[in-house]
Amino acid sequence: MSRENPWSNPDRLPAEEAQDLARFIDQRAARPDQRQAHDALLAALAPQAGERLLDLGCGSGVLTRRLAAQVGPSGEVVGVDISRAMLDYARQQTAADQVSPAPRYEQADATSLPFPDGYFHGALMARTLMHVPEPQAVLAKLRRVVIPGGRLAILEADWGTVAVDHSQRELTRRILAWRTDHVDGNNWMGRQLVRRCLEAGWQVRTVQGLVSIGRNEETTHFGSLRRCAALALEQGVITQAEHDAWVAELDERLAAGLFFASINEYIVVVTA
Ligand SMILES: C[S@@+](CC[C@H](N)C(=O)[O-])C[C@H]1O[C@@H](n2cnc3c(N)ncnc32)[C@H](O)[C@@H]1O
Repeated sequence: MSRENPWSNPDRLPAEEAQDLARFIDQRAARPDQRQAHDALLAALAPQAGERLLDLGCGSGVLTRRLAAQVGPSGEVVGVDISRAMLDYARQQTAADQVSPAPRYEQADATSLPFPDGYFHGALMARTLMHVPEPQAVLAKLRRVVIPGGRLAILEADWGTVAVDHSQRELTRRILAWRTDHVDGNNWMGRQLVRRCLEAGWQVRTVQGLVSIGRNEETTHFGSLRRCAALALEQGVITQAEHDAWVAELDERLAAGLFFASINEYIVVVTA
């Protein structure tokens, strides 16, 4: 009943689909809920001019480009991703946006980072840890490449906290529980972040919770719930009739201005 997670290595997809995922990250990042989370993550990391910073699982480079602007010409920003397709897109977008100084992009698996010990003053990792098969190994490797006392800021959502106002409670629970347990990686990573960081030897500095609320189509919630229903149908978790009824109610609520959904996201800042 589980699907393969496309985010664990987009290069396993056909080239065009991998490019689409990169474009999707950039477009999604412009939506208000994602922008709020990314802004909060950058504020939590608090980049300083002249620092050397890592963006691990940089994807389209959407945060890498913002970091580069913040550290300025005396600093250095490196975006690392497992996917060549993501990095190709990130390089193109960095050139198109004329980001100066430009960040550097390197292809690597998060469990084998090609940098000397203590190379970075700090690092961030947004919506990536949930997609890696060995999160503890990644947290340990990150500790090696950050200077002693250096910081890591992590952002993860928790799909187990999704709330949707819908009249069909049992069906809603069935769709969301299946989505949480079987689609796109470890969807409980949000609630596990603090424990996992402590177990990997990091010191926890701050823990912040964001409640991301969707009431219209501008945020990602509506599209992502429709996708859940489509996947649940495809995988035989719900029937066509259940799918159509569930989605029709969401559509009606949206049209009437009555749609409401939310998800909790967590930002944890830890030091080495
Ligand atoms: C959901 S995207 C997040 C992109 C970006 N950080 C953001 O916040 O929009 C997850 C990214 O992690 C990358 N990734 C997944 N597993 C990885 C691994 N083992 N090592 C490095 N990158 C990985 C994927 O290729 C993808 O670009």
